[in-house]
Amino acid sequence: MELPATLRAAVDRALEGVALAELQRAADILSSRYRAETRDGRLHLSDELFANAYLATRLPATFAAVRASLQSAAELMPYFEPKSLLDLGAGPGTALWAASDCWPTIASATMLEASQSIRKVGMELSDRSGVEHVEWRAADASKSFQAEKADLVTLAYVLDELSPAEGLALAERLWAATTGLLVIVEPGTPAGWRRMMAVRSRLVELGAHLAAPCPHSQACPIIEPDWCHFSRRVARSRLHRLTKRGDVPWEDEKYIFVAASRTPAEAFRSRVLAPARGGSGKIQLKLCQENGSIDEKLLTKRDGELFKTARRVDWGDIL
Ligand SMILES: C[S@@+](CC[C@H](N)C(=O)[O-])C[C@H]1O[C@@H](n2cnc3c(N)ncnc32)[C@H](O)[C@@H]1O
Repeated sequence: MELPATLRAAVDRALEGVALAELQRAADILSSRYRAETRDGRLHLSDELFANAYLATRLPATFAAVRASLQSAAELMPYFEPKSLLDLGAGPGTALWAASDCWPTIASATMLEASQSIRKVGMELSDRSGVEHVEWRAADASKSFQAEKADLVTLAYVLDELSPAEGLALAERLWAATTGLLVIVEPGTPAGWRRMMAVRSRLVELGAHLAAPCPHSQACPIIEPDWCHFSRRVARSRLHRLTKRGDVPWEDEKYIFVAASRTPAEAFRSRVLAPARGGSGKIQLKLCQENGSIDEKLLTKRDGELFKTARRVDWGDIL
């Protein structure tokens, strides 16, 4: 996946003239704080340098994960045409760009964010997003906050910066603010999946319909140490490679998400939970099924059309 050209140009412009050595140092600190899930009362994006490091190294990957999550829901809700967006923990406005790319019907957005430094960056970028009315406000997700209801509500890569109790309370508040669809995205780690499962259960208790990724609303059938997650390959810009001191022109972003809808989305049979395995004439798929179970399905040429379809599906697709 590539960033939309306008976003890529806006990011390049924002990072013009920033010293590479400073970006590298800030990116190293940032990634060790994210990896350790540090919660020391300080925001990770506490100053301009960390905000710039986030733009250079994390925005492309979080954009890809959020965009893919929204797409999964959109495919099952073809009638959904959101006009308003509410995004919490907005960072540089990643979800605004992903949502308006997925649904060009979005005409207004409220972006809530605690860090002044990243809010400033996000505000400047969003001037070029093409969304008519974008309002940025300071807000603390761990406390109550003021926001009008919105058709689409998003929370991307924020739960890992909150305590489990704060995360659940926030999911409840965001669901109350949702008139159409609430999409929550987290890193695709075992810890991210555990957080997502807690939120998923709470949303189902509150009457939400799971649009994606799950084909059912029963308890998640996955048993630890396994965990559910998906992956998106993201093209790396030259600056990204230099900042991360990496040679590979892409990275694979692992993520997990839940899309909870006010109305039932289209039903589907099963979702592919891992890359397909197999050789000539056979293919093995790990499927989450509508009856609430996981199945390792072995398909061969004898399965005819189903085999042909299975050869084309990718990790995360519905079958
Ligand atoms: C990892 S970034 C994700 C940014 C953006 N959603 C994305 O997907 O790229 C997490 C964001 O949540 C914000 N945040 C963390 N704790 C918060 C809180 N208590 N209230 C509001 N925002 C918070 C951080 O400042 C940061 O901008």
